[in-house]
Amino acid sequence: MITSNRTPPAALGYRPDDPDFISDPYPALARLREGFPVVFDQQTNQWLISRHRDVNSLLRDRRLGRSYLHRASHEEWGRTAPPEWQAPFWQLLWPQLIDREPPDHTRLRNLVLRAFTPRAVEAMRPRIEVVVATLIDRAKQLGEFDLIADLIEDLPVTVIADMLGIPDADRHLLRPWSADITLMFELNPSLEYQRRATRASAEFSAYLRELLHARQGQPAHDLLGELVLAAESGDRLSEDELVATVVLLLNAGHEASVNGAANSWWALFRNPLALRELRRRPELAPTAIEELLRFDTPAPIFERWVLEEVKVEGVVIPRGQEVALLFAAANRDHRAFPEPDRIVLDRHPNPYLSFGAGIHYCLGAPLAKLEFDILFRQMLERMPGLELVSEPRWKPRFVLRGLESIQVRDRQP
Ligand code: HEM
Repeated sequence: MITSNRTPPAALGYRPDDPDFISDPYPALARLREGFPVVFDQQTNQWLISRHRDVNSLLRDRRLGRSYLHRASHEEWGRTAPPEWQAPFWQLLWPQLIDREPPDHTRLRNLVLRAFTPRAVEAMRPRIEVVVATLIDRAKQLGEFDLIADLIEDLPVTVIADMLGIPDADRHLLRPWSADITLMFELNPSLEYQRRATRASAEFSAYLRELLHARQGQPAHDLLGELVLAAESGDRLSEDELVATVVLLLNAGHEASVNGAANSWWALFRNPLALRELRRRPELAPTAIEELLRFDTPAPIFERWVLEEVKVEGVVIPRGQEVALLFAAANRDHRAFPEPDRIVLDRHPNPYLSFGAGIHYCLGAPLAKLEFDILFRQMLERMPGLELVSEPRWKPRFVLRGLESIQVRDRQP
């Protein structure tokens, strides 16, 4: 048991701000996982947890929480409250179900759960088939194109905006807002990131409040209408919670999905044998998608606050501390996955953690998997010679780790 190790994570290569680490974090994450599975990181003031067994069990452990605000104020928790100018961001974040704990979390999750069950989602298959076909038609006409901006990016946005009932004419506003808002989730976000996230929060929130007021008293034909009804019918949902829920669905639906699909294709291009095999056997798409989300985890790190002292791998982590659960390290742990650094398209079992676990398990997982299934199958079939034109570059972000663009063309258009 390693408990008294003084090697700082930075010396092992764990440098979340460093472009080299971001482009390939796996060697450094392996060094942490094998030598220092529970270690304090002074760069981020977090305890880094990297083994699959520990990440999996801490996600389900109620002695940890996504928030501490249901237990104590910032000051009582020994933290400084965020500055007043950031209020538009925090007013949008704190009421979100992802940052609440029971009973509020349960109440808010139940309000939207029905729309995201595997059955409800499967009913959307015909519509999503059409969306994907149209996007592929458009991309094919371009010849050489950016797989992210010209194809992948519009899929999750269109699907979730359809579900909610966001007017077509406004949809181009959504992705830039969610991209900017999620900048605040980076470790030690720069002042520029904080400003952009705050500005986008104010604009997004004002836009939604106007839309919601226009929708009041109208029949509910979509998820937004159902939420408006829930808010009108009494104490189930406040207006702040309503706005925050819609923003969460739009943000969560965009960022992780775009990065998940794009990183998966980049992994396939770098592993031509796996790509050839998937082209030969597209029926492997469902397990292949999960394997690709394991192999290159789109959201590599999620944090928790320690609400009551815990002991992990023999190390005591006191109340009040923050832990960083390194999903990307856990997803490559040889103790849970034979040959973890290889893409095994039909891997089974595959206890990957990319959608989390426990009460905050990704609400959108069935939807994301369906979108990917349709997208990947149509791309394999209709773009059989898709190849890279140039080496893509990573955005300077680790928490939502994604590529700037992926320039591609189809050799057999
Ligand atoms: C590949 C795509 C996606 C990935 C990798 C992903 C990943 C995750 C993860 C890891 C969590 C749990 C966070 C934690 O435990 O701290 C989560 C929560 C959540 N996700 Fe996703 N997500 C994806 C797509 C989506 C989509 C498409 C939606 C909805 C439209 C969505 C909505 C949510 C919501 C609402 C939560 C909060 C659940 C709760 O707190 O109970 N996600 N997601």
